[in-house]
Amino acid sequence: MSERLAPRVKGLSYGGDYNPEQWPESVWAEDVALMREAGVTVVSLGIFAWAWLEPADGRYEFDRLDRLMDILHAGGVAVDLATATASPPAWFSVAHPESLPVDPDGRTLTYGSRQAFCPSSPAYRRKALDLVERLAERYREHPALAMWHVHNEYACHNAHCYCEISADAFRAWLQARYTDLDGLNAAWGTAFWSQTYTDWAQVQPPRATVTSSNPTQLLDFRRFSSDAHLANFTAERDVLTRVSPGVPITTNLMAASCYALDYWQWARELPVISNDHYVLAEAPTPPAAQTAYAADATRGLAGGGSWLLMEHSTSAVNWQPRNLAKAPGALLRESLGHVARGSEGAMFFQWRASRAGSEKWHSAMLPHAGTASKVWREVVALGGALRRLAEVEGARVVAHVAILLDYPSGWAQEAPNQPSTDLGAFDEIKRWHAALWRAGIAADLVHPAADLSRYVAVLAPSLYLADDDAIANITDYTASGGTLIMGPYSGLVDRNDHLRTAPLPGAFHKLLGVRVEELFPLPEAASVALDDGSTAAVWTEQLSVTEATVLASYLDGPVAGEPAITRFGETWYLGTRLSDDALTALLASATGAPVTHRVPAQVEAVRRRHDGGNSYLFLLNHGDGPAVVDARGTDLLTGTAWTGPAEVPGRGVVVLREA
Ligand code: GAL
Ligand code: ZN
Repeated sequence: MSERLAPRVKGLSYGGDYNPEQWPESVWAEDVALMREAGVTVVSLGIFAWAWLEPADGRYEFDRLDRLMDILHAGGVAVDLATATASPPAWFSVAHPESLPVDPDGRTLTYGSRQAFCPSSPAYRRKALDLVERLAERYREHPALAMWHVHNEYACHNAHCYCEISADAFRAWLQARYTDLDGLNAAWGTAFWSQTYTDWAQVQPPRATVTSSNPTQLLDFRRFSSDAHLANFTAERDVLTRVSPGVPITTNLMAASCYALDYWQWARELPVISNDHYVLAEAPTPPAAQTAYAADATRGLAGGGSWLLMEHSTSAVNWQPRNLAKAPGALLRESLGHVARGSEGAMFFQWRASRAGSEKWHSAMLPHAGTASKVWREVVALGGALRRLAEVEGARVVAHVAILLDYPSGWAQEAPNQPSTDLGAFDEIKRWHAALWRAGIAADLVHPAADLSRYVAVLAPSLYLADDDAIANITDYTASGGTLIMGPYSGLVDRNDHLRTAPLPGAFHKLLGVRVEELFPLPEAASVALDDGSTAAVWTEQLSVTEATVLASYLDGPVAGEPAITRFGETWYLGTRLSDDALTALLASATGAPVTHRVPAQVEAVRRRHDGGNSYLFLLNHGDGPAVVDARGTDLLTGTAWTGPAEVPGRGVVVLREA
């Protein structure tokens, strides 16, 4: 689902987390004045303010928040009001020690950081909902209220809990899924190592044990944990919907960095999709490709429609080994990189840099250095840019390629005892996305059972586990003429992580016209050469073709001479992990998808279009020097009308309303 903040916030949203409890009231007026100077339209207020709002059990103190809401409203700043439930106060944890999370080794983790609660804790749920109900009653009519911000980054730190309460909840979840123990034993394949259960009380979360836990137990525990967090979200959402109907509701996801939750299930329950994204400064994937993935993944969760970038950083973060500050211009390009891919604004963590606490070295919109700083000048400039881009709101990104992403498949594949630890699931999906990004082809991330009919090509980089719905959907898609490009080690197991029957790959051998005889993962750092000139690493398979044509074979390695890449009709199979360059070249031609716009290599082009209306070409120049792009239209950022080729300044952005 995806609604929009509009009409409660006009135009694109601009602002950040605002944590007033860290500051004396005397700075609030200055905050609002500076927000106005920067063009801030909305702030996410009080995300970690539980202890400030309820300093003792049942003692609610809202008068400061009342005053702040009024001040913000008077200053023309709308509020995305937090339910403040992400970090229970110390008094709560002391009163309810049973609510503290427990790790697989049985170690209870204490409070004093944040999110220190068990997702299945009834005490946590009860106290959180009490707070939500009171906030909703008090502020539902407040004119500053634009949206409810439930919790913060569910499962960021407490994804899985192994306590007794969680164990009971897990058993109840399993009973609902399997009805009886025979069902559970069959699904988990417990006729192995004497794991058979004869009483529900014997069933445990996958706590630390002497060697590998049962893989289906691990998989189900991940499913259960995602559901446990989701139940906390829907409980808060339902209170808000009842007490404060008609106000948009969101919770900030982490589509590019959190794989603990099955976000496809979450997306169905979430009225507004919002996302947090932080660039990994030293990762091999360039920042712009990381941004593109995060945005495309979030847009996928929004069903291709509107979403909001809820958090990113103006400059350095505080949690990487080396927290590199952003170069001049990077802020604008990164923010507009998200807007180009469908975000209806650009929000940050956080408004004013903290003076104390573990995030005091995290950048903010208003940095420690104050307004005489590069960050502040760029923040003010970005506010202006977003104002000038207001008409882009609601325009959609059109992608012709879908990339399939399935959480349980990744969970199953990334469990222990796989043929190789080097073939990542989620990383491989990102790598294929980056290959399309390099080729200038726009893509949506979608669920394997989603409607695929609007795509000219569907990529399945990593679909180790394919359930029956996914198989039927993908098969229908290819039957109606769509192009499918599938990565190695796909279609091998069912929803319970049991091998499908021979021939391999069980789910897709007919579709692909190949049989996999044996898996030949490669030694660390080894690579193989293919006879089409490409190279590959990590993984090979001994393949034989039944109906497919061989496009490339191995020149060396353990299966030298055997097929590596095959094609059967419009269905391609890659039995190996191609190098980035080879993958880019293959996808650029095999998808048959158009590039967004012909641009020089240093420029990224993305298009948003209003249904039946204007289209906007975002040109992001990641190079230092200016670039010339054969495109015409009016640059919304400068007002320049380009009648000949448009020039994009080095490290700059042009957004053309296309002629
Ligand atoms: C996010 C979180 C924020 C802040 C930020 C720092 O994960 O939601 O509260 O901690 O990271 O980068
Ligand atoms: Zn627990």
